[in-house]
Amino acid sequence: LNFCVPKKRKEILDKLIKGLQRLEYRGYDSAGIGVDGGNDIEKSEQPTILIKKRGKVINLQEEIQGREDLNFDLEFDTHLGIAHTRWATHGVPNNVNSHPQRSDTNNDFVVVHNGIITNYKDIKKFLIGKGFEFESDTDTEVIAKLLKYMYDTRESDSITFRELVEGTVQQLEGAFAVVFKSTKYPGQAVASRRGSPLLIGIASKSKLSTDHIPILYSKGAGKNEGGTCTVTGNNQEALNTANSTSSFQPANGDGQVEYFFASDASAIIEHTNRVIFMEDDDVAAVTDGCLSLHRIRRSVDESSTRQVQTLQMELQQIMRGNYSTFMQKEIFEQPESVVNTMRGRINFDANTVHLGGLKQHINELKRCRRLIFIACGTSYHSAMATRQLMEELTELPVMVELASDFLDRKTPIFRDDVCFFISQSGETADTLMALRYCKGRGALTVGITNVVGSSISRETDCGVHINAGPEIGVASTKAYTSQFIALVMFGLMMCEDRISMQQRRADIIKGLKELPDKIKDVLKLDEEVHSLAQELYQQKSVLIMGRGYNFATCLEGALKVKELTYMHSEGILAGELKHGPLALVDKAMPIIMIIMKDGTYTKCQNALQQVVARMGRPILLCEQGDTMSQKEAHRVMELPGIVDCLSGILTVIPLQLLSFHIAVLKGCDVDCPRNLAKSVTVE
Ligand code: G6P
Repeated sequence: LNFCVPKKRKEILDKLIKGLQRLEYRGYDSAGIGVDGGNDIEKSEQPTILIKKRGKVINLQEEIQGREDLNFDLEFDTHLGIAHTRWATHGVPNNVNSHPQRSDTNNDFVVVHNGIITNYKDIKKFLIGKGFEFESDTDTEVIAKLLKYMYDTRESDSITFRELVEGTVQQLEGAFAVVFKSTKYPGQAVASRRGSPLLIGIASKSKLSTDHIPILYSKGAGKNEGGTCTVTGNNQEALNTANSTSSFQPANGDGQVEYFFASDASAIIEHTNRVIFMEDDDVAAVTDGCLSLHRIRRSVDESSTRQVQTLQMELQQIMRGNYSTFMQKEIFEQPESVVNTMRGRINFDANTVHLGGLKQHINELKRCRRLIFIACGTSYHSAMATRQLMEELTELPVMVELASDFLDRKTPIFRDDVCFFISQSGETADTLMALRYCKGRGALTVGITNVVGSSISRETDCGVHINAGPEIGVASTKAYTSQFIALVMFGLMMCEDRISMQQRRADIIKGLKELPDKIKDVLKLDEEVHSLAQELYQQKSVLIMGRGYNFATCLEGALKVKELTYMHSEGILAGELKHGPLALVDKAMPIIMIIMKDGTYTKCQNALQQVVARMGRPILLCEQGDTMSQKEAHRVMELPGIVDCLSGILTVIPLQLLSFHIAVLKGCDVDCPRNLAKSVTVE
């Protein structure tokens, strides 16, 4: 390995830390790195330095900066660094439980891991029996120690790092994306995944000569947190398919190639937009600057190559702009993000909807007997918000399910069911498991996701990308309104040929066209919402009440308040008020009531009267000019009117803003609420 542009340790560390910061939305209770101790790649062993710190990535960064024993100017031709930001599943957040986890005090084998190893207790017992001593409470530590055990008991010295990893991951049950580093194999990286996302970024100044990397099969061939890894500066110009053994290697030249392994593209997008999405059970190895992809077994119908894809995601898209937090930016982006969801899909003159990702399955979709919408958190609320309209437009039974409960119940699924998996990240473990469950029972599976290339978008038969742009704030905002619209568009597509439905369709399509301007009007309420937040932020609880098309807004608004402000909040169906929640009502309890001029207006008036009669002081979200409701209210926020089934998109925005302002007033971390992660890739 020759010098081309040697990199200083500082540069390498900065790159790893930056990558972690970009992944911090996935988990942030501790972070760590593992880097090369020395720069002599020719040595058969190279020490690995581990630095780990409880808390956010900034704590790790400060720890590193304060390390006087690190020579930040040391230069490397080739370097492998691994780094990780953790969302604790097994073991409290502390330095020892942070990743990388190690095989022994010499750091012979170190690993960063995203996922959960379900059989870790058995492996731990086995390894303890073999004399291994464990230092952490994590499931991950067994991986590093098992690898070391494999190494110690190897039959031949010629065994490669990759072969050892293959042997190790075959023993693991559960979900994982792992990247390994070893003192025994300097400059080499091995990574694998099953159930948790992992991609490879390739940064090379030269053009790649192929965009398909062949898979190599093993001899005899017939699965909260994010991690990054870099191999830098190994003096190669281009990548090409090398020879008839179908290995994939850099060509000779004076350029350089850097490989990145990361849980998602945001960690690496500033270095390269050329990525390979690894599939379950793929093993990737970087040795002497060459990348190779391997599988242990060949199964029928599987692709024998992995495609290098060019991502169209721009860094500025994931930057915060002038806003104080990503969440605020994302709330204010909604006039544009809803347009992006509809772009190229709705013909506002002809009143037609075209969803390209569903085209090939249109007949199956129209012939189905039942629609089932499966999701978690905010994504679940988007299905709740559109359920009534979906039933109206498709005249089909519509089930809306929380993925975890759906799985717990082992819900019966049939071949003529169409199952939707709604997920911003496309990686939520419960939703992904439900997808596999439904696929296994022969249902047609449809993904509604934001992240292109995510597991759910890849594993479903067909789908719709909501195109809302990267959502970084842990609490979902613009993805919700875009999911809502994607589902409305699906409903419209399903009733295109129904004559009786034409007027309704035209009204909805007109409403969709008016949406961006009406969202802009709602966002003008920001100052009023801020003043309401000042009134509410020291309260213990807030009730949010509504019915019909706006019940989902109550659930979603209450979730936003809980997530961001740590206040108790409950979304209440106004029809259920007299069956319990009325007992909570007095002059002190903050109650937000949503009353729009739709089919439930009269019934909502009844609820309003019942609250006022118990000395309640309702804060009203109502339609402009609704004087009847307003005379009973403690406070009023007026929203523009829109076709009934779309009003939930407008009513949710003041609640997004309210939770944001309360969180700021309470000094809460808006983008990274305590204990929560954006992408929950564990069950
Ligand atoms: C987590 C996030 C929520 C999100 C939910 C579902 O709980 O904190 O904001 O709504 O996961 O995520 P998904 O990516 O599947 O929409």
